Amino acid sequence: MHIDLSGRSALVTGAAQGIAQAVALQLKACGAAVQVADIDGERAAAFARSNGLSLHVFDIADRKAAHAAVADVLKLSGGRLDILVNGAGGVRGQVGQAIESVDEAGWSAIFDANIHGAFWMAQACAPAMQARGWGRMIHIASGAGLRPSLTGIQAYTAAKHALVGLAKQLSQDLGPHGITSNAIAPGFILSNPTTQRQWEAYGVDGQQRLLQSIHTRRLGEAQDIASMAAFLASDHAAWVTGQVISVDGGRS
Ligand SMILES: NC(=O)c1ccc[n+]([C@@H]2O[C@H](COP(=O)([O-])OP(=O)(O)OC[C@H]3O[C@@H](n4cnc5c(N)ncnc54)[C@H](O)[C@@H]3O)[C@@H](O)[C@H]2O)c1
Repeated sequence: MHIDLSGRSALVTGAAQGIAQAVALQLKACGAAVQVADIDGERAAAFARSNGLSLHVFDIADRKAAHAAVADVLKLSGGRLDILVNGAGGVRGQVGQAIESVDEAGWSAIFDANIHGAFWMAQACAPAMQARGWGRMIHIASGAGLRPSLTGIQAYTAAKHALVGLAKQLSQDLGPHGITSNAIAPGFILSNPTTQRQWEAYGVDGQQRLLQSIHTRRLGEAQDIASMAAFLASDHAAWVTGQVISVDGGRS
């Protein structure tokens, strides 16, 4: 099977960090014209520049900003947008804490990044996909979208569960228009400073326990997720929709 995305136009959010960067590069390597987005312009800029990708800096949780950015994406792509990868999200620098100390700002920040923004992006991108009768929406969820999170962050687990639900609902709503919507649930990947700190905090024993719970006995890599995203973005996955696909070395 050869994955050929030439002629396709893709937008990947969250591209200041590991997983979305790997996805953007994989889609590009398969021939897609890729644009990237992130709220963190500084970090995303170096990546975009060095890979010749157009960068859009905005907050996906701001509906107006999301719609304006997608309009800009469409201007650059000649009106075409075939693939949306909702990669933005993460824990926004937070760590797990007791439920009584969770405040409104912390709770909302995680929902903004992981679910509110994913919906506004889907809403903004859907019309261009509907117009062509072909589209792919790929949402980077998490094992935390299926069970309690290793991070211990209540909002993260709740928001990723919501993202899995959104992926299924969008599948039903947009399927008749030739648009698929699937979630990928990655296992633990050392893709950013936060996961690096989390890994170190486990200590040698905790690290061993985590590795023993993974059937393949290794942590994931951003490329593991990128490979699945490329498949879901392709014509080969035309009849795969409304699914949440764990890419986690068998931990689930
Ligand atoms: N690393 C892991 O172990 C792991 C495991 C499961 C799922 N995930 C998910 O994979 C995705 C990518 O994770 P990662 O580990 O590569 O990096 P990450 O979670 O640190 O990166 C997320 C990116 O999203 C951007 N972002 C956050 N809020 C935004 C907003 N409101 N508007 C625009 N951009 C925003 C951030 O600036 C960041 O670059 C995330 O959704 C994360 O939740 C990661």
